[in-house]
Amino acid sequence: MTLDTKLKSLVQLAEEYHKFAKSVNWNLHPKGLYEPIQYMMGLQGKSLRPQSLLMFANFFSHQDETALKAAYALELFHNFTLVHDDLVDQSETRRGKPTIHLKFGVHAAVLSGDSMMIYSIKMLNECFSELNKPDLMPIFYNMAIEVCEGQDLDMSFESKQIVLLEDYLKMIRQKTSVLLATCFKLGAAIGGLDRKERQKAYQLGECLGLAFQIQDDWLDFYGDPSITGKQRAGDVLRCKKTILLIKALDVASETVKETLLKHYQQNEPNKIEVIDQIFNQLQIRQIVYELFMSYRNECNQIIESFTSLHEIHKNQIRDFINQVLNRNS
Ligand code: IPE
Ligand code: IPE
Ligand code: MG
Ligand code: MG
Ligand code: MG
Repeated sequence: MTLDTKLKSLVQLAEEYHKFAKSVNWNLHPKGLYEPIQYMMGLQGKSLRPQSLLMFANFFSHQDETALKAAYALELFHNFTLVHDDLVDQSETRRGKPTIHLKFGVHAAVLSGDSMMIYSIKMLNECFSELNKPDLMPIFYNMAIEVCEGQDLDMSFESKQIVLLEDYLKMIRQKTSVLLATCFKLGAAIGGLDRKERQKAYQLGECLGLAFQIQDDWLDFYGDPSITGKQRAGDVLRCKKTILLIKALDVASETVKETLLKHYQQNEPNKIEVIDQIFNQLQIRQIVYELFMSYRNECNQIIESFTSLHEIHKNQIRDFINQVLNRNS
């Protein structure tokens, strides 16, 4: 296996991915099942997961078609999680458009979501057979189980008043990080990196995922809904135990903590303004930003530790991470 120093750019990889994604035909019957899938996959998101897989896969070898298919399968899985996530979070918009359960009904969100998940397994299984690497499937299965566990933790935290930072980190690692980590690792495995380096790729994806979800919580409250495509402060309205709340409870005096807890667990009409004032008073924007930066810096340290990558590859990973973490949607 030779290391490819003439890399495709991130833009090129994204273009190839989008071309492939457009070629997948969801115009199938019954319409009730496939129209929601077509709609969801048509509302292209940032496509970070497929891009990360393709980036690693391209470092060593060009298994183009198979890598593209694997990348699509993981994006399909991600979209399945979003369809069910919007249902359980009772979200009204996704990528600036009505969510599946609102547009097509709850039954469609459940069944189309189920189908997306099964199709993603089917496609990935085909890819690994083509590559003669069927032993990669358990990496996917373990990830998929963890995502469900993380989502269950997230939901169960809604009715808890207080969640420890440690439990929050476990929850976001499972619901968000393991999927990114798996894309990194599978890309590295398809590309032919050895076991130790694949593990580093996983670790990097995990760390990036933590920074990414902390930023997601931040954007939910401080982002611009016309850019995020999601309702402002949906997490606060759903009593989600976000990093903003956890840090606020951590630094607040006993009196402020009591007020915050009282307002957070109930849904009065001016809830968002009240919480906003308390967060401002506690300088939560800055505190959460610092935590986010600590994971961002840790990502850079992990990149340094790859022994089989050249500077050109490391720079591409750095560019990718900057692209992910400089987002506002
Ligand atoms: C949203 O992921 C779900 C989270 C893990 C926070 P993205 O922000 O990557 O969503 P899209 O795919 O770009 O819409
Ligand atoms: C989503 O977490 C994680 C998964 C979809 C597995 P969120 O509930 O925070 O994601 P958004 O904010 O709705 O995109
Ligand atoms: Mg959600
Ligand atoms: Mg959720
Ligand atoms: Mg969120």
